Amino acid sequence: MFGSSTQTVPEAKRVPRHVAIIMDGNGRWAKKRFLPRVAGHKRGFEAVRETVKACSELGVEFLTLFAFSTENWRRPADEVSFLMEMFLRALENEVVRLGRNNIRLKVIGSRERFPAGIAERIAAAEASTAANTGLTLTIAADYGGRWDVMQAANQLLAEGCTELTEDALSSRLSMAYAPEPDLFIRTGGEVRISNFLLWQLAYTELHFTDLLWPDFGPAALDQAISSYQSRERRFGRTSEQLPDSERRS
Ligand code: IPE
Ligand code: IPE
Ligand code: MG
Repeated sequence: MFGSSTQTVPEAKRVPRHVAIIMDGNGRWAKKRFLPRVAGHKRGFEAVRETVKACSELGVEFLTLFAFSTENWRRPADEVSFLMEMFLRALENEVVRLGRNNIRLKVIGSRERFPAGIAERIAAAEASTAANTGLTLTIAADYGGRWDVMQAANQLLAEGCTELTEDALSSRLSMAYAPEPDLFIRTGGEVRISNFLLWQLAYTELHFTDLLWPDFGPAALDQAISSYQSRERRFGRTSEQLPDSERRS
């Protein structure tokens, strides 16, 4: 298990170990071109491929992409089914490519509302990439930060736990296999978390860009990482307490 940023100060690395992204703006990208919203989701998928490749090449260890939130079920039924279909097809078609690139796939979120067949495909895709030792790519689908904290707390209750601790709770979160994100990116211009990784973002550096997700790629990722590298990560300490290599002013 990885240390918690509120209990021990994480090791600072130049390249963020864990990047978490809210991929927003597909609909607006399409609207600007007088295309249906789903055309934006299709192009967004290309941006996913490019970003996965770029992170892998940079030596990022964990990349987590928010693909569908617990609140996205509120969208029109035809958009939801298009997204489900796209997810299903990606699970079928991309696994070979992930294997070639030594990428381990994980999917987090509640699986209860997915159409039949998706849960099995997820399990198969995770199993067939489980031994890969490169980038761990996590797709958050039917995911919500509150859902995650609640399911962790419920697991503890079911185990008969009578007192909660940070360690106990965080070890039952759906991403207990990864360190907390170092860098959070949200595209699309909105400045909010939209129920993404609420617990894990406690000390994450936040980066917001107006670029719409289909326009995101290696150059925008480099910009986000440069911004990250210019930040002083104090985790509650004063600047003077930091080692010289971590001081930014
Ligand atoms: C993000 O793009 C993709 C999903 C939430 C699935 P949006 O579809 O939210 O695009 P905008 O925000 O409407 O432009
Ligand atoms: C956040 O985007 C969720 C995903 C990218 C999957 P939304 O477009 O759903 O967020 P809001 O509704 O603008 O907050
Ligand atoms: Mg949106």
